[in-house]
Amino acid sequence: MNLTLEKLMPVATGVLLGAAAVAIAMILLKTFRGPTAICTLNILCIKTNSVANAAPQQIHIATPVDGARDIVVSWETSGPVEQSRLEYRPAGQENWQTTDVVSKRAPANGILGSRQWLHQARMTPLTPETVYEYRIRSQGRFSRRTYESELYRAKTLDDPIKYPLSIALVTDTGLAGRADRLTPHANPVLARLIDQPAHLILGLGDYPYADSDERFLFPEQAIGAWLREWQPVLAQTPFYPQWGNHECCLRETTDLWTPRFELPESDSPDGLSYTFQIGNVFFLSLFSPGVEGLTPNAYMLSWMDEVLSTAREGGALWLIVYQHEPIYAHGQAHPADPETRAALAPIFEKHKVDLHLSSHDQSYERTYPLNGVTRDEFSIGSQEVNEYRQGQGVIYAKVSPSGKKSNITGDFSHLPPEKMPMIAVANDKAHHFGVLELRSPEELALVVYAVDDTRTYDVLDVVTIRVIP
Ligand SMILES: [Fe+2]
Repeated sequence: MNLTLEKLMPVATGVLLGAAAVAIAMILLKTFRGPTAICTLNILCIKTNSVANAAPQQIHIATPVDGARDIVVSWETSGPVEQSRLEYRPAGQENWQTTDVVSKRAPANGILGSRQWLHQARMTPLTPETVYEYRIRSQGRFSRRTYESELYRAKTLDDPIKYPLSIALVTDTGLAGRADRLTPHANPVLARLIDQPAHLILGLGDYPYADSDERFLFPEQAIGAWLREWQPVLAQTPFYPQWGNHECCLRETTDLWTPRFELPESDSPDGLSYTFQIGNVFFLSLFSPGVEGLTPNAYMLSWMDEVLSTAREGGALWLIVYQHEPIYAHGQAHPADPETRAALAPIFEKHKVDLHLSSHDQSYERTYPLNGVTRDEFSIGSQEVNEYRQGQGVIYAKVSPSGKKSNITGDFSHLPPEKMPMIAVANDKAHHFGVLELRSPEELALVVYAVDDTRTYDVLDVVTIRVIP
């Protein structure tokens, strides 16, 4: 056979075109098979109005100013909106109030990333300790079709707050149904928080794991899927998220996350840490994601020193700090960085922080009250296992994971067989979540529940701290 270049060229061109067509088809197939897979390419969003629509989704609430009188509702639509409004009323009443909606384009991850629309509306002024119903009406710009959300309920805090008050801790969740089967217990945690809502939820970071969940081509799809999965909880309970190494640095970025949330105003140098107070409890939500180079720097340490000092002077009885990176962690997946401990612990001790909460290393570890913490040293303020007096030292609790096991170990983060001397309670065999209970103005408790397939919630640990004059 006499094969000349002239004869081979059409064949080669055909093969190349075929390969390109297959590659494009694979990208689109991967894009459209995922649970969030709509509106991936901007061109398709415009042309395919059936998928780029004004249906409200990913609904979640926040109380960045005053949880007794003010609730902000945030949501997304995959397409542009002509008109949108939030309707709300005290539960059981007939007449609806309406409020304006502020809309903006969502950030996208590169030119091929989807660009959805973000919306926010503020319900204010509200009456303290009142259940409100709300719903969203939204009309598409192109189709003029009107969408209406389900009816949701949210309750304002009392003023002054009533006890007991519960604050759930959620972190390292992942999304249910991962192909690698690392999230067998994502749903039981959700179910518990739907059935027994907390007053607030603190997020300690690492939510959808876009980098290792192969269902998502773009990170914002994974973020959208997580917000949809958690909508039944977050549409009724205000969420105060902090960011982990996944939200900042593993395909996801804080630029994708932060525009979706309404958080308390902050002048922190990193722009990602913030503070708020509930009753006499002051919270510092600290961006310390456990990534080299992102440990709080000198400016942040100075800012922390100042806000904790101001909180004490302002009469806060309890100080709680939460961040993603643990101060003490001995698991195989993410052992703690002694340099971070040496930098942060002296500030916590200076202001007598009562409780430090973290996650990242996927197993439970909780210390005794500690003092004199340096890189390698510490002293124990009380050898009691569960009950403490305020002022005995800083208690460090690593409460992780709420749903997802570690990719590094394919399991929980295995702990050494012998418990380390500063650790009071440890467990590397159960998914779990914490509930911070403000039992009275002078009593604070952290209750940690283990979850399993039976959806029973065994108590894994209880820490009680009391003010004793
Ligand atoms: Fe992490």
